[in-house]
Amino acid sequence: MRKQPKISVIGAGYVGLCTAVGFSSKGYHVTVSEVDADKAGKINLGIPPFYEPGLQEKLAAGVRDGYLKCFVNQTCKVVLGSDLTFVTVGTPSRTDGSVDLSYVESVAHEVGAALRQRSSFHVVVIKSTVIPGTTQNTVKPVLEKESGKICGEQFGLCMNPEFLRQGSAFQDTVNADRVVIGSYDKRSGDILEDLYRDFYSPQLPPIIRTSLSTAELIKYASNAMLATKISFINTIANICEKIPGADVKEVAAAIGLDKRIGPHFLDAGLGYGGSCFPKDVQALIACSKTLGYTPELLDSVENVNRAQPLKAVEFCKQQLGSLGGKRVAILGLSFKPDTDDMREARAIPIIDELLREGASVAAYDPVAASSAKTVFGSKIRYARSALDCIKDADCAIVVTEWREFQELTPEDFAENMRQPILIDGRRIYSPEKYSKKLKFAAIGLGK
Ligand code: UGA
Repeated sequence: MRKQPKISVIGAGYVGLCTAVGFSSKGYHVTVSEVDADKAGKINLGIPPFYEPGLQEKLAAGVRDGYLKCFVNQTCKVVLGSDLTFVTVGTPSRTDGSVDLSYVESVAHEVGAALRQRSSFHVVVIKSTVIPGTTQNTVKPVLEKESGKICGEQFGLCMNPEFLRQGSAFQDTVNADRVVIGSYDKRSGDILEDLYRDFYSPQLPPIIRTSLSTAELIKYASNAMLATKISFINTIANICEKIPGADVKEVAAAIGLDKRIGPHFLDAGLGYGGSCFPKDVQALIACSKTLGYTPELLDSVENVNRAQPLKAVEFCKQQLGSLGGKRVAILGLSFKPDTDDMREARAIPIIDELLREGASVAAYDPVAASSAKTVFGSKIRYARSALDCIKDADCAIVVTEWREFQELTPEDFAENMRQPILIDGRRIYSPEKYSKKLKFAAIGLGK
């Protein structure tokens, strides 16, 4: 049997922790270095520092059985105790949309310094989303300078993007559609490929071997394609609304049957949010412009997405006229269901605009209320349940399609609200059923 490599992970955010737990759940020894002591403490107690279905049980088992341990800011220690290091620190956006690579750079200094003390071949794998050219032009020189070693000879360097979705991140880690391995040197690409062959065996996904910069671009191109599909279908939704009898859901279902188009990511709604699509589309635009090309298609994808959430407020005004003094109920705050993440959540521009128009807002989310409090503070009321949220409201807007909202009946709205006006921003209700008892408006539905 092949000896399993020992793995270290730098940065215990979504990607880092899911990677670490994925490997530890399959019997690899994983050590993690995390700068935030609170996070590290929770991880060592088997508690994920963020909400992610399915992760807690696997993390707790990994910690309990001694396969996973997290250290506070100990990059050198975890690198020296392992054969292969995944770098999974954040790459936030700067105000101009470009990527802030300072965390990746500072980790490269620390990893490089550790490599100076390492006698055997070590593979460094960049998993953070970085703009094309970063691994080769920024990470490699820092590693070489700090270690005093030559990349490709005394240590190896790979770029291995992740495609995890929040809410199913652990499942996505253990069941990937594909594995992309960009490598500087063939030897380290082979080592990483062997690791994944062992990890996924016997259900091995396609493994794509590329250069470092192609791997970096694949990540941006994937997210840009998905964001484009969403802005495309939202554009069709906006056209549908002008055509009596048209319904974007039927259009999406029909076009999705064409194998060249496919059925996924054609749910029209209030636009995309989260920590990835907005940031990655902006970063790709900024990177492309730096290279002398303006990607107009991506500019439009962004513009459609920026306008889309405000349609909920427009619908609201069409029904209520002035919003001054009106009570609006917001169902769902997180950027998508099954997460408590509020980053770029569509609820933010919607609630900001409602408040600006003088409405009072009550909101309910099954898990995101506490993270939402850091965004809205005491400017809105946090309801205890969906029914509590819609109680005495003049208008209710579905912003995030949590499963429990599907169970609300037309009677629930009609009997609890001051005015029975429902705006389905995520197309979870049957227009036929809900428009009988309610004033009903929905994204992509012609009047
Ligand atoms: C996304 C990608 O799906 C992952 O493959 C990628 O790894 C990840 O970004 C990343 O770069 O780390 P995530 O941000 O977790 O994952 O969320 P998605 O499930 O992709 O949804 C993103 C947004 O698009 C949500 O706001 C969702 O409501 C919206 N969406 C999605 C739509 O409006 N319509 C759709 O048809 C699908």
